[in-house]
Amino acid sequence: MTTLLTNIAELTTNDPSRTADPTGTLHDAAVLIDGGRVAWVGAVGDAPDAEEVVDAGRRAVIPGFVDSHSHLVFGGDRAEEFEARMAGQKYAAGGIRSTVAATRAASDDALRVRLRGFLGEMLAQGTTTVEIKSGYGLSVADEERLVRLAAEVTPEVTFLGAHVVPAEYADRADDYVDLVVGPMLDACAPHAKWIDVFCETGAFTVPQSRRVLEAGIARGLAPRVHASQLGPGEGVRLAVELGAASVDHGTYLTDDDIAALAASDTVLTLLPGVEFSTRQPYPDARRLIDAGVTVALACDTNPGSSFTSSMPFCIAIAVRDMGMTPAEAVWAATAGGAGALRRDDVGIIAPGARADLVLLDAPTRIHLAYRPGVPLVRRVWKDGVPVA
Ligand code: NIG
Ligand code: FE
Repeated sequence: MTTLLTNIAELTTNDPSRTADPTGTLHDAAVLIDGGRVAWVGAVGDAPDAEEVVDAGRRAVIPGFVDSHSHLVFGGDRAEEFEARMAGQKYAAGGIRSTVAATRAASDDALRVRLRGFLGEMLAQGTTTVEIKSGYGLSVADEERLVRLAAEVTPEVTFLGAHVVPAEYADRADDYVDLVVGPMLDACAPHAKWIDVFCETGAFTVPQSRRVLEAGIARGLAPRVHASQLGPGEGVRLAVELGAASVDHGTYLTDDDIAALAASDTVLTLLPGVEFSTRQPYPDARRLIDAGVTVALACDTNPGSSFTSSMPFCIAIAVRDMGMTPAEAVWAATAGGAGALRRDDVGIIAPGARADLVLLDAPTRIHLAYRPGVPLVRRVWKDGVPVA
């Protein structure tokens, strides 16, 4: 089945071979979809015939969002914690433990229903690729359960047994790390592609984080790191040293962190929903991009620090409060996310790429930031199939 999506006022391809800037933007364009892949991209007047023609009505089309950081398998929520925070309480890593208790108490089916609900709301908002972390089980059996459930819905599964030290290991953090790098990794590695650690005060130290990441790498998992969320630290440099695909959060970066990132292949994934929901300062993305750092945007959907699943919301914050242009923010939420997952088949609209496309109810991508909170996603294709 071939589908021609035509009469596109502004097409963001992210194909750097098309224009001098990385967005590869075309006007009055068309895209041919064939068997789940993009087969052709070009001007309306040159478009090939197709079995089905969809008129974009002079609206904008962008690649499906690549949300490279989420924690979607959990029980319960923490609405009261959010309410208390809005009244002045500080966010701390320890809140994770209350979600661990609710997650352990939930059945596989209950977690599955919840997970699929989140994926549905993400698709409706234009997200066609999502990475999902474990990290609310924190026992061998529960972490195995979470990565297994995540692997049912995405290939981008991250083992995050080192999310926080669970209550039963209080004051025995190194014993817990032994468990993570031993039997827990054995149980989880077969379902996962990535290894992650929360390298932060209140979670894991730099030496503990190194142990976790090196053990994962030795098992064939690729590293990504949560770092510099609550204060400055050495997590970013550890991530760069170990060749992590991405280091995530980066709310408190030092000049050395920025220089190390700019000289590396590690993407910095900014998570504006976290600063929004924890009332922390937004990172200065302008400074990072100008320094040569590759920046991605992701939602970090989780019940504690960021309970949004909306990439358009994150784009709006990035433009309004982090110094990104709309073009940079949309790139970071698509091609940037793909880079953070080391994928070259998503986040781009080019021949051979997956046909993951979003038709906006707007003439330009600027409207994603210009009309915040408005549902501008009109139609979504994933692997060439209309899904929303
Ligand atoms: O990415 N930073 C660590 N983990 C999550 C928060 C988890 C929670 O508070 O439940 C994050 O922000
Ligand atoms: Fe996270």
